[in-house]
Amino acid sequence: MKLRRLGKNGPELPALGLGCMGMSPLRPQPGRHDAAKDAESVATIQAALDAGVRLVNTGDFYGMGHNELLLREALRGRRDKAFLSVKFGMMVAPGGQPLGVDVSPRAVKNFCSYSLQRLDVEAIDLYQPGRIPASAPIEETVGAIAELIKEGKVRHLGLSEVTGAQLRRAHAVHPVTAVEIEYSLAGRAIERDLLPVARELGVGIVAYSVAAQGLLTGAIKGPLPAHDVRNWTPRFHGEALTKNLEVVAKFAAFAASKGWTPTQLAAAWVLAQGEDIVALVGMSNRNRIAENIAAGAIELSADDLAALDRMFAPGAVVGDRYAPQILQMWRS
Ligand SMILES: NC(=O)c1ccc[n+]([C@@H]2O[C@H](COP(=O)([O-])OP(=O)(O)OC[C@H]3O[C@@H](n4cnc5c(N)ncnc54)[C@H](OP(=O)(O)O)[C@@H]3O)[C@@H](O)[C@H]2O)c1
Repeated sequence: MKLRRLGKNGPELPALGLGCMGMSPLRPQPGRHDAAKDAESVATIQAALDAGVRLVNTGDFYGMGHNELLLREALRGRRDKAFLSVKFGMMVAPGGQPLGVDVSPRAVKNFCSYSLQRLDVEAIDLYQPGRIPASAPIEETVGAIAELIKEGKVRHLGLSEVTGAQLRRAHAVHPVTAVEIEYSLAGRAIERDLLPVARELGVGIVAYSVAAQGLLTGAIKGPLPAHDVRNWTPRFHGEALTKNLEVVAKFAAFAASKGWTPTQLAAAWVLAQGEDIVALVGMSNRNRIAENIAAGAIELSADDLAALDRMFAPGAVVGDRYAPQILQMWRS
């Protein structure tokens, strides 16, 4: 796979990384683990690393630590193959109810201690708050991560879903290696505010939801099953979903006309937006790996890019990417 440097002074990494969020239930029930799913998830992480992927992305809140425990098992004997990216800060009650965000300096250190133990690693390669509320003193959060870097517990500072102004404030305290942020043909908000600032400062982009939470894979044909967490997301229900699936049908036909799958084209489009971008693809089973990794070799022509711009003109994809109450909780 093509290599890309993550941020001005960060490591060189293969252009595609693995997102592990979908491997864990939102609300795991003690004593009710799906052993077959867990085994497939561990095998997927290992197969991705063996196929050349390095960036593996998790959050301590993905399944309330469950995701990190999968990684602990998957990384046994493979730690040196992985560039391990961990988010923290989103709090959750035992019943799964979201409790908001805590990125205070002592919470940062506490979250890190638990992650290091669960992952059974000496250091986390890229460590980042999942969200930073607008009112939070970002300098203090970043200061705490800088101390963890000095102590050798963390290797690089990252951020997730920040504004350009927040990135500037953080970078003034300690160099930021990368910002993890949604970027896809269906979600280009990053281009207005964050991307220009990241480029000016030499901060790398880790793009997530490059297939718009699975919408652009073409695998979704109608309403999602009731238990699917994406039912909370406006773009996945009602008339918005119907309209969005019409765009996806055109997108899938365009991909097929070029000999690519929709997921490959979705990832290749994000990678074509700049050499400073590494793209995560979320996968929880091994049969996706070869197909998705091949996206790293696709070269899109200027005509391809122009056709996709027309297909995904502003307003083409309807509905927000998160439920309003979730956005409100993160921002306040
Ligand atoms: N920083 C943040 O706030 C944030 C937020 C969300 C996500 N993330 C990270 O980004 C990663 C990816 O995001 P995402 O999961 O929202 O979106 P995504 O990568 O756009 O889509 C993932 C979905 O696409 C499916 N898929 C993948 N390859 C496919 C293929 N070749 N054919 C058909 N379906 C395919 C996956 O199914 P299977 O699971 O069945 O393989 C999964 O349902 C997450 O795992 C997480 O690490 C970060």
